[in-house]
Amino acid sequence: MCGIVGYIGNKKATPILLNGLSQLEYRGYDSAGISTIEKDKISLMKDKGRVKNLYDLTGIDSLEGTVGIAHTRWATHGKPSKENSHPHMDNSNTFSVVHNGIIENYNELRAFLTDKGYNFLSETDSEVIPNLIHYYYQKENKKEKGSFLTAFKNACLDLKGSFSIAGICLDFPDNMIVVRKDSPLVIGNSETENYISSDIPAILSFTKKFYFLNDLEFAVLYRDNIVFFDKNLSIIHKECQNISWNASSAEKNGFDDYMLKEIYEQPTAIRETIGFRLQEDGTCNLDELNFSKPYLSLINQIYIIACGTAMHAGLAGKVCIEKLCKIPTQVDIASEFRYRDPLIDTSTLCIFISQSGETADTIAALKLARSKGAKTIAISNVIGSSITREADYCIYTHAGPEIAVASTKAYTSQIVLLNILAIHLAEILETQDPKIISNLKKEILQLPKKIEETLKCSEVIKSFAKTVYSEKDMFFLGRGIDETVAREASLKLKEISYIHSESYPAGELKHGPIALIENGVTVIGILTDSTLVEKSISNIQEVITRGAKTLIITNQNIENSMFDLVVKIPQTSPFISPILSVVPMQLFAYYISKEKGLDVDKPRNLAKSVTVE
Ligand code: F6R
Repeated sequence: MCGIVGYIGNKKATPILLNGLSQLEYRGYDSAGISTIEKDKISLMKDKGRVKNLYDLTGIDSLEGTVGIAHTRWATHGKPSKENSHPHMDNSNTFSVVHNGIIENYNELRAFLTDKGYNFLSETDSEVIPNLIHYYYQKENKKEKGSFLTAFKNACLDLKGSFSIAGICLDFPDNMIVVRKDSPLVIGNSETENYISSDIPAILSFTKKFYFLNDLEFAVLYRDNIVFFDKNLSIIHKECQNISWNASSAEKNGFDDYMLKEIYEQPTAIRETIGFRLQEDGTCNLDELNFSKPYLSLINQIYIIACGTAMHAGLAGKVCIEKLCKIPTQVDIASEFRYRDPLIDTSTLCIFISQSGETADTIAALKLARSKGAKTIAISNVIGSSITREADYCIYTHAGPEIAVASTKAYTSQIVLLNILAIHLAEILETQDPKIISNLKKEILQLPKKIEETLKCSEVIKSFAKTVYSEKDMFFLGRGIDETVAREASLKLKEISYIHSESYPAGELKHGPIALIENGVTVIGILTDSTLVEKSISNIQEVITRGAKTLIITNQNIENSMFDLVVKIPQTSPFISPILSVVPMQLFAYYISKEKGLDVDKPRNLAKSVTVE
């Protein structure tokens, strides 16, 4: 994920900016750059590659500027290259800007600016921003007090999507302006200097005093002052907050572990994955694919192939692909698929899912599918990873780096992307009622807010975890799409708590597994499918009769009294309900592991990337 740092003060900005960028390296990036205000120009130094490469750029040592902005880029639009790196400047070299997030309407803005005579040097969405600021600046009384802010604000209000932006202007060498919307940015304050950053750790060594902006609030930073504005440019008051983190908790943004941080990052991760692909006006585009209706009409089966959690995301994806596209879809474990001579040919479309993009079995399965003539799509979270280079097409999840071994935000963003893919294919094939598709699109766009709502169950899940953490076995039940979440919930628990657990389709219990149920055993039911909820409740009653303790995750109105705990989650389309119902399950596994005093982020025997067979 991209990272922003900025400085305004009396010291040389460059060393501070480079240091800040190094602190942001853990977020993952492919290029880096900085801009400072020098005597008679704005300097711009950037390149693809590591932050340390910037130290070698000619002239970087002679930069004297005391105001500057810097950026690490994780490519989304346009390959990693010097041109696509940030900062970006306008055509007149008056403004320099860094941006995190995605500008959804950049094509439209780029066309508008091109028509007005502006040129573009990069393939990025971000380059429209400095030029749009310049466009409004020209219309104002240039250099008049406030005109940089007015132009900056006007440009930002034209942007659709998510963004945190910092800008500097040659005509206002004692200012830096920032804004954010659905993308992180913090302001660090000290008496004679101010800082900005995508997250607290990068500037924590300089200050412990922070300001936090809400969506579409602007801040003008001076050396010894910060003035805050709302989107109408009325001045607003903000409270400064003292942060008492130490260095290691800071890297985790204040969370105890990466896993918890990543669970809480899911609203942002989903927002980034949706990005341009689904817009408020109902447009769905997956520019990465160029499938025609005649080609897709020849496809008679789809395979989704992956390992572990990614395979569980595939199970949820199968449900929406079959329902929306009416193409039989199978989900296979990569290590099985590669050795069983699967019946695939040129009429098969194979989708490979891998967070890391480096899983050996998944890559081998992909090569096999290609050798049999199937078209292949890779879904990955890591730009340029092996799987993305092997596949015919590649679509990225943009969940940001996942550091905890147990996968959380990658799973939910994979399901979002599979749903968007299903919508895209169904729209080309015209296989589903547009009303159903339109409703699903609306539900997907509401997911980030609904995940935030779901995360509020954290405390009650934590308390329940305290009552069951010392148990030896647990069971997860569900029907339909809930059964796919039961599998993922069971895997999460095993991985990080070392408690033996099983997941079953609820109706399958009486065919054998119910023999394992005895007094006091914990059974977790996931009940979100309104058409199956009554049936699942009957199955769960069977375990209650045999003495089980029960936790229910549901979005239905059910009679609570017979269960030990019922956690209500928001309603959504059944196709994407796993994205909400898995959240309490991730927290459940997390709190049990913590209660047992285990290393949540690095569970025994497991590796983040399984590059061997
Ligand atoms: C579980 C987990 C693993 C991975 C699996 C595939 O929390 O992380 O099950 O999902 O090893 O990894 P990727 O997605 O990198 O191919």
